[in-house]
Amino acid sequence: MELEKKKLFNEHGDRDWGKRRIIGGNTTNLIELNNVKYEWATKMYRSMMNNFWIPEEIPLAQDAKDYALLSPSERQSYDKILSFLIFLDSLQTANLPNINEYITAPEVNLCLTVQTFQEAVHSQSYSYILDSVCPAEVRDRIYNEWREDKHLLRRNRFITDLYERFIAESTTENLLRTIMANYILEGIYFYSGFSFFYALGRQGKLLGTVSEIKYIQRDELTHLALFQGIFREIRKENPEMFTSELDADLRLMMQTAVEHEIEWGQYITANSIPGLSNEIIDQYIKFLSNERLKKIGLDILYPEVVEHPMKWVENFSNMNGMKTDFFEQKVTNYSKSSNLNWDEL
Ligand SMILES: [Fe+2]
Ligand SMILES: [Fe+2]
Repeated sequence: MELEKKKLFNEHGDRDWGKRRIIGGNTTNLIELNNVKYEWATKMYRSMMNNFWIPEEIPLAQDAKDYALLSPSERQSYDKILSFLIFLDSLQTANLPNINEYITAPEVNLCLTVQTFQEAVHSQSYSYILDSVCPAEVRDRIYNEWREDKHLLRRNRFITDLYERFIAESTTENLLRTIMANYILEGIYFYSGFSFFYALGRQGKLLGTVSEIKYIQRDELTHLALFQGIFREIRKENPEMFTSELDADLRLMMQTAVEHEIEWGQYITANSIPGLSNEIIDQYIKFLSNERLKKIGLDILYPEVVEHPMKWVENFSNMNGMKTDFFEQKVTNYSKSSNLNWDEL
């Protein structure tokens, strides 16, 4: 079914929150936060705002020294992972507004707007890392690697093709595929890279970069939860859209993404990073995919993987006692910027 963009000016829109829908609603576009349907979205908005951070407040002088002492394979991994993350965050900043044009719940529009802003902050943090840590010629190479490394080019094309399919053909099925692609990007694609940085951090190396990554991951966790919320609500409101063919298609997308991520994780670490063997990467990504699918009511792909293979990653990435699952948080657990303890990073 063809989806229409929401109208910018809509004097006949509904203010009644009972009529509000995530897609296909008749919104006035007015952001009335005292009149909302999706309360989780306003809570999430506040949580996202409380997470505000400034990349340049984290010192990176020691990282420049550590970088020079990395082994050639560690340095190559560091560069390639940054290159992938740089691509992903830029792509998100550019694409999220395309999705937002079809979402007809202002409280959710608000969250997607903050997400877009945060993805731009992530891009800023990578620029700062490259400026502070890497020599100029390396910086330039990293900014080109997303299209020069054939593994990266293939991965980047896969995800962007899914986004572009919706832009070219704005049907409800393609919107759901784009939402799934976002969910996969936020919940799977970042994770081999993140765990590589945490593996370095565990050895006391590149701790400034690791802090940047922790802040980025804290934001990404809210993005993941936001897309969970969007997906669940659309499913609740439009059960007829979720045919068994579509469910199978979404699961297949996840399976392809898992295969790409494992191949990528093993390629960048080359079985040479302590704590990140090929086997552990394989199990970790499959474990994450099971968690992600369960959260949106789809059957898992790897029932044989039941244990988190690297629990230390969760402890390592945990900031200020943040919960990794937004929907399991209590209101009192939301982070407050005044509670951030910069010394703990
Ligand atoms: Fe991001
Ligand atoms: Fe994100």
